[in-house]
Amino acid sequence: MSDESAKLTFNDKTAALARRTGTIGPEVVDISALYKDTGLFTYDPGFSSTASCESKITYIDGDEGVLLHRGYPIDQLAEKGDYLETCYLLLYGELPTAREYEDFVYRVTRHTMVHEQMSRFFTGFRRDAHPMAVMVGVVGALSAFYHDSTDIADPHQRMVASLRMIAKMPTIAAMAYKYHVGQPFVYPRNELTYAENFLHMCFAVPCEPYKINPVLAKAMDRIFILHADHEQNASTSTVRLAGSSGANPFACIAAGIACLWGPAHGGANEAALNMLTEIGTKDRIPEFIARAKDKNDPFRLMGFGHRVYKNYDPRAKIMQQTCHEVLDELGIKDDPLLEVAMELEHIALHDQYFIDKKLYPNVDFYSGITLKALGFPTTMFTVLFAIARTVGWIAQWKEMIEDPHQRIGRPRQLYTGAPSRDYVAVDKR
Ligand code: CMC
Repeated sequence: MSDESAKLTFNDKTAALARRTGTIGPEVVDISALYKDTGLFTYDPGFSSTASCESKITYIDGDEGVLLHRGYPIDQLAEKGDYLETCYLLLYGELPTAREYEDFVYRVTRHTMVHEQMSRFFTGFRRDAHPMAVMVGVVGALSAFYHDSTDIADPHQRMVASLRMIAKMPTIAAMAYKYHVGQPFVYPRNELTYAENFLHMCFAVPCEPYKINPVLAKAMDRIFILHADHEQNASTSTVRLAGSSGANPFACIAAGIACLWGPAHGGANEAALNMLTEIGTKDRIPEFIARAKDKNDPFRLMGFGHRVYKNYDPRAKIMQQTCHEVLDELGIKDDPLLEVAMELEHIALHDQYFIDKKLYPNVDFYSGITLKALGFPTTMFTVLFAIARTVGWIAQWKEMIEDPHQRIGRPRQLYTGAPSRDYVAVDKR
């Protein structure tokens, strides 16, 4: 027991809790032996104070509004890099050299097509199915098509599965979109960049040429970078937990997509735009602000607040700038939704309730408006988040599988149900 340990005494038992220090960020107290030493569990619903793993991938300082990937600030990556470079960084830990980048782009690009039989899978869904429902099903089904990359004990298969998911996610997402709108699927074109190819697969039609707009492609790429990873958020923790049992990576990513769908997480961009539409005009904003503050009303301002950021979300700043670039390029000047959004942002940033609770606009507040301007229906917004976050899920999953101390995730509970009692025959109840 060193002076560096925290001590916890409960009844007559004392546990020495080792102190662990990361490179930056709060120190942690290692409670893994607490139950053995004292018979106690800890209780932390929502994991507000619990580090579930050790990680070298992403760091967030919520109070300062800092987001680093492998040490690099998100604004530098978004300004100077591109999405596949960010993918390489997240997966391998370093920025690629020119040659490594070229090789990586080649390796991702040659996996962009999906097995032709998968296209028939889509027709099993109703046309009006939410594209996220389609994504959960089709991505999970990848494990039924790519048996040669499901052995998680083989590092080569792990990497092939990783590249396949990064490469195929835009193709699957675009197919979900095309099926939704009743247009034919468009095959990937490997001479295009990742973002250009995605826009092409979504918006090209066989009857006329589709011209890529470089400003919009750049915005798409930036949206992908901004959503690439966000340390141990709900969907990433879901992927890690699913993967901790040894499940194959395609199944784990499908679990992550299911978790992302919720409106408190990735579904917030869709919910934020729906909210702006519901507000409709600036004069109705006070009514909605009042509802957000009312304890008896479950309504929340979607796109505001964050579990970790108690300062401006650094992604939101870049997203706001990108949003304006897209609207300028498309000549959208008097968009009523944008007017409502800007006024809402202004009021919320100056309202005491939001100041006291440190509720700032998050990335989803601006991404919804941008994606709408790019031509996507709201139902596709969370799908785009899923494409971008795939690399984060994969990098975190790989890190966990490659950790020699990795064990199945198995939380404990505080049981408050009925104590042991005897079965009562049905005629005696
Ligand atoms: N509007 C009004 N009040 C809010 C909001 C909001 N958007 N968010 C939090 N609050 C209040 C909440 O009522 C609570 O008040 P009190 O202390 O009086 O009970 C206080 O702020 C703290 O909220 P919390 O629910 O304890 O915070 P949390 O960390 O559990 O929730 C959140 C974080 C993101 C789920 C929540 O802020 C929220 O529901 N926001 C809207 C949904 C949203 O935009 N989500 C996207 C998050 S960013 C993308 C991603 O990473 O997935």
